[in-house]
Amino acid sequence: MQYTTLGRTGLRVSVAGLGCGGNSRLGLGSGKSDADAIALVRAAFDLGVTFFDTAEVYGTEEVLGRALAGIPRDHVVISSKSRILDDGGTPLPSAAVLANLEKSLRKLAVDYIDVFHLHAVQDAHYAYARDELVPMLLRQKEKGTIRHLGITESPPRDPDQLMLSHALGDPCWEVVMLAYHMMNQGPRRTVFPLTMARGVGTLLMFVVRNIFSRPALLAQTLKDLADEGLVPREIADADEPLRFLMHDGGASSLTDAAYRFARYEPGAQVILFGTGDQEHLRTNVASLLKPPLPRADVEKLHALFANLRDVGLVFPDFARAPFSIATPYVERLEHR
Ligand SMILES: NC(=O)c1ccc[n+]([C@@H]2O[C@H](COP(=O)([O-])OP(=O)(O)OC[C@H]3O[C@@H](n4cnc5c(N)ncnc54)[C@H](OP(=O)(O)O)[C@@H]3O)[C@@H](O)[C@H]2O)c1
Repeated sequence: MQYTTLGRTGLRVSVAGLGCGGNSRLGLGSGKSDADAIALVRAAFDLGVTFFDTAEVYGTEEVLGRALAGIPRDHVVISSKSRILDDGGTPLPSAAVLANLEKSLRKLAVDYIDVFHLHAVQDAHYAYARDELVPMLLRQKEKGTIRHLGITESPPRDPDQLMLSHALGDPCWEVVMLAYHMMNQGPRRTVFPLTMARGVGTLLMFVVRNIFSRPALLAQTLKDLADEGLVPREIADADEPLRFLMHDGGASSLTDAAYRFARYEPGAQVILFGTGDQEHLRTNVASLLKPPLPRADVEKLHALFANLRDVGLVFPDFARAPFSIATPYVERLEHR
């Protein structure tokens, strides 16, 4: 494993971080058992993964806590989150966010959370989060229940990273979580220059999601983009559109390309990967430890896709059936 320092938190963390949310939820999302999820977390730890990201809404805090029990607390870095809106979309009072933090501590069975985030904050709610919730969180930091404060974006609702652009002007955030992938390169302009200048740690999500784990979805997305004149027609018409990345000395698969592309972006620190599959765990960690993709391939990805926005950020099933207010909160948060 390779390790890095997470911004000005000073925390040493593995560059590969196990995401306990997304559609995999450690495998619980596809019907696997708690025992399978615990085995997956332990296998990740055995491979050197020390960064684990969960959240109140994922339903994986308890199983993560059980999996990490017995490992000395300072050998792992735990990241969790509280939502800031209720099921009807009304901002939660700080007492409710504090109650969520206390619930997370109980479920994880820990005395403190290394990085505690406000979850999927939209730009319209940012000022509320900073002015009403951060003072309470800073008091918790003084008490020691939180070590560092973070904020995560809601990518499909904020494809231009407006919330993070504002948040990075405020000194309270030590860590941010953002969506970044081969066809969502906006943060190279909007986020990474600010995090690097200000010593803010970065956690990258959505690096593969479904656009690079389902070839048919990638092919359809490229056809749609070509129809809009946003990518060259010959790329969209190719049998395997990103085949140019796969060659001797290049990537071995689409997911290999996606994780390596993100890993070596200047400003990228922890690459989160979500999986419920031990084989994917091993190949993803191996990808993240390989050298960068060849420079010519990265330049081609920049030339082809740098100007795209709002691509590959929704789960495909939700793209066809937009959620309503009746959709369970956890799904709305995750899918949009
Ligand atoms: N707003 C927020 O704060 C927010 C929102 C979303 C996510 N997150 C965090 O970010 C983490 C990472 O996001 P993500 O879960 O979407 O991760 P991701 O790594 O970008 O994508 C995971 C998807 O790719 C599949 N996959 C993973 N490795 C694969 C491989 N080698 N081959 C084929 N398919 C593979 C997974 O299925 P398998 O299970 O089959 O491997 C899963 O469907 C989440 O787990 C969560 O902790 C935060």
